[in-house]
Order: sequence, then structure tokens, then C-alpha cells
Amino acid sequence: MHIPLALTYDDVLIVPRRSSFSSRDEATTKTRLSRHINLNVPIVSANMDSVTGSDMAIAMARLGGIGILHRFNSIEENVEEVKRVKRAQNLIVSDPYTVDPTSTVSQAKEFASETGVSGLLVANGDNKLRGVLSRRDFLFATDMNQRVEEIMTPREKLIVGNAYTTFEEAKKIFAEFKVEKLPLVDDENHIVGLITSDDIKHIINYPLSNRDSEGRLIVGACVGVHGDYLERAQELVKAGVDVLVIDIAHGHSDLMFNAVAKLREVVPEVDLIAGNIATARAAEELCEAGVDAVKVGVGPGSICITRIVTGCGMPQLTAVMEAANVAKRYGVPVIADGGIKKSGDMVKALGAGADSIMLGSMLAGTEESPGVIMNKGDKKFKISRGSASFTQANDRRKINQEKKKNMSEVVPEGVESIVPFKGDVGSIIHQMVGGLKSGMSYTNSHTIAELQKNVEFVRISGAGLQESGVHDVTAIT
Ligand code: XMP
Repeated sequence: MHIPLALTYDDVLIVPRRSSFSSRDEATTKTRLSRHINLNVPIVSANMDSVTGSDMAIAMARLGGIGILHRFNSIEENVEEVKRVKRAQNLIVSDPYTVDPTSTVSQAKEFASETGVSGLLVANGDNKLRGVLSRRDFLFATDMNQRVEEIMTPREKLIVGNAYTTFEEAKKIFAEFKVEKLPLVDDENHIVGLITSDDIKHIINYPLSNRDSEGRLIVGACVGVHGDYLERAQELVKAGVDVLVIDIAHGHSDLMFNAVAKLREVVPEVDLIAGNIATARAAEELCEAGVDAVKVGVGPGSICITRIVTGCGMPQLTAVMEAANVAKRYGVPVIADGGIKKSGDMVKALGAGADSIMLGSMLAGTEESPGVIMNKGDKKFKISRGSASFTQANDRRKINQEKKKNMSEVVPEGVESIVPFKGDVGSIIHQMVGGLKSGMSYTNSHTIAELQKNVEFVRISGAGLQESGVHDVTAIT
């Protein structure tokens, strides 16, 4: 039997080429996540419950990537997470939250915190604008039993726009009148929309943010292939999700093909990403089945023990190369999922043919990941756990109310771990993008497509790998 060699990121280096770059900023990191979704930065946060909730998804989309919300919750909770991302940033809020003038300040405050907004428009049941309850009104309110109409800024004192107010006009109004919210009304004073100064600030502060046609941040969510997956997919799409990831451990399976066909019927309007796979054959069959991207990686993840438990998998560089070779022929983007430890691994993954990469544990220790910060001695940590870990299986049992499931029958293919707390995700993405652009300049590649054309890998030895890292000194950072 011939046994071919398969390689991963640490087995290779990219050979530098003559470069015409004078600055690494000449490189653009624009890419495609799937057939119809573009990204400014080729980084996707993993659909793990220790990585991507709505906070992470909001941050990732603002930074130019995208977050894929995990599915280890009820459909209602999952839908709320999508709505939170979609509400986080708009050009125009077409259906702003309102509060009744006769509500108490305490009721309005609770509603504002539930919906995650800083201020509220005040309207009667007829949706006519009566006033605005701003962040400042909340801040200086002393009596929580007062009625909203007693402390709001009333309609006659408000600056308003109309359905035709442009972004530029709104910017001028915010600058001149120092207001935070610009309600948009029709001739009869009905509320038709809202522009907020926060939205304008976000658009200026996050020039790379990925937004949908309404100016809202883009977000993905994932579904499985069993149980409530069709209903979940439909509800997520109704809530505005931009892309669905069908995520199962072994994506080259009849279960996957069946799910792709059914999802295409019930949610034809969204891109479907299918994974995880590790071979050219799997990529080919999924492309033939009409998916909009494939996710590659069987066992490379930091918390994965699939290869140990099952003996199956494929070193990630080879898996990405093989899948990408085929997917390119179909015009289907590839996501390299798992095993990325440093920005150099990302450059190798993209050079090998991936269009984007998915990060799990690298992002699990950030402020935006779900879960609490733990202290151990003077160090801070967060949890990163595999989606097929024991505790995850136990939590899933509770969510699905599978009372009868015997936990001693569970065979985990992932572990629970702690990762150092790393602060905000923006600084990690900044380092990753800086490393990528630098790698692109070493190969004289102005685009990711050029990187894929220019890349030349060499295999390295154990000594070469050792030489690549810090050695013979004691690093102090
Ligand atoms: P990194 O290395 O970025 O990998 O932490 C994240 C990816 O790992 C996969 N994943 C798992 N794989 N058992 C596995 O074999 C698991 O329990 C598990 N949980 C996550 C997943 O593809 C993720 O994006």
C-alpha cells in the first residue's frame, strides 16, 4: 500500500520573492467568505460556544471579518443573538424601538437594557412621535416612578429628519446640534426611521466593517443536520442572518447531502457553507451539491481529539490544498478551519488556497467571547472548549431536555481548556492582519489571489522549525 505524505503548517515555510512593495499597506486583504458574501479581512470566528456569541459577532464584522454564532442554545436565544447583531449598527433604523409616554422611567430603563439601546423614541399607539428619551435623560432621572413624558425631550423641541434625509445631512445635524438621535418622520409626524450618532461614529471608526445592503453588520449562524435544524434555519433567516454554516464533524456524509438539499428548499435565499471536510473528493461532491463555500479541517483544532479518538483526519495544509484545488474549479470559496496558532499559519493557509480562515481558541480568551474571566494566581483566563467535549455534550443534553441520555456513553472528541485572557479582539485581529500583509509583501502579492499564485512552499526539518521560533534567548514578552 502506498501511503502518501500529508503536511501541516509547521512542516513548511513560504519562500520569499523579490518584492516591489514600499509598504505592506499596499496589500489588500479583501476576500470572499462564500459565493455571495465578501469580507474585507479573511478571518471568521468559530461557531463554538466559548468563541462566538453576539458580542464577538459584532466585533468581528466591525473589524472586517465575520462571526458565526454557535447553536448550543434554543432557537429563540439564537434568533435574539442574530437580532442583536443586526441592531448593533445601521445606516437607518427602519423600525426603531418606542416607549409609551405614560410608561414609568423604570419600565423604559428596563426595556432599553433588554433591547440594548441607549435611548428610546417616545410614541403613542399610533406611532406618532411624542418625544425622545435620551441617554442623558436616563442618567439624570432621580425618580424612577416618574412618567416618561415628564422627563423626555418633547416633540416641539426635537430636530427631526424625513425619509429622504441622507447620511451626510445627518452628520451635519449631529455636528451642529449636538444631539444623539435624529428621528425621521413623515408629514403627519409618524415615525419612519431613526439615525443615531453612534451609528455614524461606528461607520467612521470601523472603515473595514462588513455591512449588508441596509448598512447592518453581517453575521452568520450554524445549524446541524438533525432535530430542529430546518426550523432553526428558517427562524435565523427571518431574523436577518446573512449566511448559514451546516457544521458537523464529518461533513462528507449522507447526512450532510440530505441537509444541503432540504435547506436549499426551505431557505433558498441564503448562502450555505458546508463542513467540515478534509479531502478533494469531499470538496468536489459538496460543490456538485451546490454549496456556496466549504469548510475544511478534520482534527486540526486546538481542542480537538478527533484524530486521537478515531484515528481519522488529515494534516491541515494538505487538506486545504486538496480541497481548494477542486473548489477553485467550481468558484466555491474555502474556509481553513482550525489549527491556526499565529499569523504565519494564516498566510500559509491562504497561500495554500483558502479564501478565509476560521479561528477558535485564538479568540476564546478575548473580552468579546462568551463566558467569564477566571483568575488563577495573578493571571486571568477564559474557557475554550470543544463542541464535542464532555461538558458540551452535557449542556446540550440539558438544552434539548434529553433526560434519558446516559452521559457515560458519551465519547468526547474535544476537550475543555483554559486560555490566557487577551483583552479585546481588535488587538488580535490587528496583529493577524499586520502579519498577513507582511507575508503578502514577502511574496510580492497585492491580493490574496496573487498570494495563491506566487506562493512557493518548502518543507522544513525539525531543526528548521526550531530555528523559526525564538531560540537561545529568554524572551521577556
Ligand atoms: P482552533 O485551533 O482555532 O480550532 O481552536 C477551532 C475549530 O476546531 C473545531 N472544533 C472541534 N473539533 N472536536 C473536534 O475534533 C471538538 O470538540 C471541536 N470543537 C471545535 C471546529 O472546527 C473549530 O472551528
